[in-house]
Parts: sequence; structure tokens; C-alpha cells
Amino acid sequence: MDLEAISKLGDSLRKEYQALHSNEEHFTALAVDHLQKLDFDFAWAPELLASVSLANPSVPSHRFSDWPIQLYRSQEFYIELLVWTNATAAIHQHSFSGAFKVVQGSSFHALYDFNASEEVNADLVLGDVTCREFEKLSVGDVRPIKAGSAMTHSLYHLDHPSATLVVRTNGHPKFAPQFTLYKNHIAVNQLDLARKGRVNYCGWVLDTLMSVDEQKTYDVLGNLFQEISVSEAVVVILAHRKKLFREDIVKEPDFLVDNGIAQPVAEAVVNALEELNGIDELTEMRNLTSDPELRYFLALLINVPDQHSILAQLQTAYPDDDPLDTFAGLLVRVCDERTEFAKRMLSNAASMMGGTRQLDFSNSLFSCLPEGIEKRDRKSFFRHALGVNANVKDNVSQAGNENCKDSNAAHRWRESIDQFASLHQLKRIVN
Ligand SMILES: [Fe+2]
Repeated sequence: MDLEAISKLGDSLRKEYQALHSNEEHFTALAVDHLQKLDFDFAWAPELLASVSLANPSVPSHRFSDWPIQLYRSQEFYIELLVWTNATAAIHQHSFSGAFKVVQGSSFHALYDFNASEEVNADLVLGDVTCREFEKLSVGDVRPIKAGSAMTHSLYHLDHPSATLVVRTNGHPKFAPQFTLYKNHIAVNQLDLARKGRVNYCGWVLDTLMSVDEQKTYDVLGNLFQEISVSEAVVVILAHRKKLFREDIVKEPDFLVDNGIAQPVAEAVVNALEELNGIDELTEMRNLTSDPELRYFLALLINVPDQHSILAQLQTAYPDDDPLDTFAGLLVRVCDERTEFAKRMLSNAASMMGGTRQLDFSNSLFSCLPEGIEKRDRKSFFRHALGVNANVKDNVSQAGNENCKDSNAAHRWRESIDQFASLHQLKRIVN
């Protein structure tokens, strides 16, 4: 890793930026240009990275990525290396300008549109979050970072580890707040609100109560919502969603409305929680595997908005194969992760205690398979189940008849297809 090259880039960029009166409007173009010209041969060297981290006087106040390492700092901007293993960048905007370059591994990059429909307050806006375009980034690719509402994006890192080099300004209040966005309808200033003492305190109260007295959590949660702002309440709920949603504590808008949260916000929060639960299950599966193919497939399920787009991506990734066949084959591999996980669990039972929760998606998928289906027929089942969307219902019936000797079995086959189509993670793809 050539740190001298980073230092030269920083010095040269600083001169050019100052010549443009440090006008932030010019920074993104300068950063893109410098990163494209940079010859930076990154090598995964943990000892060197650790020594650079510890030697650095500026410890980041916010942990973005698994391991952020600052490599250069000036008055107006800084350069940092972000190492990614299991962290994910949620859909977000920026209060700063700059650019990033992939220097190790690969990433799935998605750009979104946000159409605001209601500004609840300066920290919370309701509106539609829709994926506009997506791409796979490889080593050497450079992309701009535009401040404010000009850019909404997410990055999902495929290799383990991946690394990006980021050149960015310190940020400016005119681009604040830096919204975090949740499909389908919420943009919230999570970055700032999550640092507030009483938001943290609410989190501690919930963590403690939920492990002691779940029933009491309802009452205390209601009281907390009376004391904090609606945007703070949204951040608390989102941060504790895995418990609050999965344990059915916050599953319906009525509970939130009864505790003073306006109906549109309550509905948006519950919609976001449902969507996030599906994403969390896929992300947890991603964290269990270092297989780049499966990680890429799970990234598609998380980010890509419809079956047509997924099939197009799979066609590109596996040009010699029928994409529907590839899709079904990858779903079989997701199912098989249950077996793989069981093997790993047996070999390391103590450290894996409680880990089965992380295979929810795999378990859900497996439970859709018709009773008694042979392992070799699973791919055929998934292929037909996916085909419901491709107007091949006749094939589904035919496959059902071929695979079932009696009408009861055919009925169960149909039920299995319906169950598959109702999985939240796949709804938009199958329906
Ligand atoms: Fe970003």
C-alpha cells in the first residue's frame, strides 16, 4: 500500500481546491479526477493497516464501515480507507462532497430517487424511496459523492473484505441533515439523532426491559414516546427493530397511534419495519457466508426491484445459462445453507449458540418446498414457482401434475407455490 501516493494526491488536490476558493461545488469533480489518476496498489495487510490506524491522531467519531482508517487530513477535506466485511451502508444521502474508489473486492452500488410527500419536521420526511439504477463495481471503479438531495445511494460489499478509498470534504450545514432512508417511505436524520443522549438512553431502557419483562415494555415504550420527539421515536424503533418487530411489540400502526404518533408516520414506520425485517434476514444470511456467488445473489435479492432486473443481472453474470434456471439453482443453494450451517454448528456449538436466528430466510425458503420433495427436484420446484410471474402458470400446473400422483398432492404443490410467492423477500419478484 503506497501511502506516499495518497499523500501526493492530498497535497495536489488541496492546491487545486484552494485555487478554486475551496468552493464545495467544485470538489466532487476534482476528487473524481484525482482518484481516477491515482495508481494505488492496495494489498490486504492487516498489520500495516493496524499500525496506520493507531498512529493516526484523528479517531473517527462515527464508525462507518467495519474499519475506517484516515490516511490524509487537511483543513477542508480528508482521505480515508474504509474496510468492509459485514457492515452495510444503508440507503443514505451525504452532508459532504467527494468521490470513492474501489481498491479491493467488489460492491453492489444502487442509486435511488426520493420523492418527498410530507415533511414531518426537519429531521423526518415521508416520501417514496425507489431504486433508479444499480451496478456492480470492481477494483478501479470511481464514483462521485454529491452532497444533499442530489444523490441517494447504497453500497453492498460482495467480497470479504472489500475496501474503498474515499476523498471527502468535512461537510457543510447547508447540505444537512444527512438523511438515512428506508424503503418504502421514510427519510430520517439518524446520524445526528442516534448520538443524542436521550435517544441512547431510550435504547438502554428498551434493551434491558425486553430481556426482563416483555409485557412491561409496551407500557414503558408508550411513556417514552410521550417524552421524546417523533423523529427520535422513529430512530429508537428502527434501531431496535429486530426485537420490537420480530417479537410483535411494534407490528401494527395502532400501537404507535395510541401513543401519540400520527397515523401517516405510524404506517410508514410499520411498512419500513416489514421491509427491513426481510432485508435483515437476507443480510444475516450474507454475514454467514463468504461465498462471493451467494453474497452476490443475496445482494440482488436485497437491492434489485423486480424479477426482470434480477434475471438480466444473472444473464450477465452467467451468460451460458438460462437465467431462470440460475435463479432456481441459487435458491436451492440458499436452502442448502441450512445443512452447511448445521455442520458448522456441530463443529463449533458453543460459539454458534443462538445463530439459527440468522438463517430465517433459508428456513422460510425450505419450509415452502412441497412435503416429501426429492432433493433433485427442488430446483425444478423453484423454477416453476418463479415462473408464476412469467405467465407460465400452465407449466406450474403441469409440473404439479407430473410431480404429484394424486389430487391432494397436486393441491399441496399449489399451496407450496403460493407460500413461496407470499415470502416477503420475494413478493415483488413473484407477484
Ligand atoms: Fe455514501
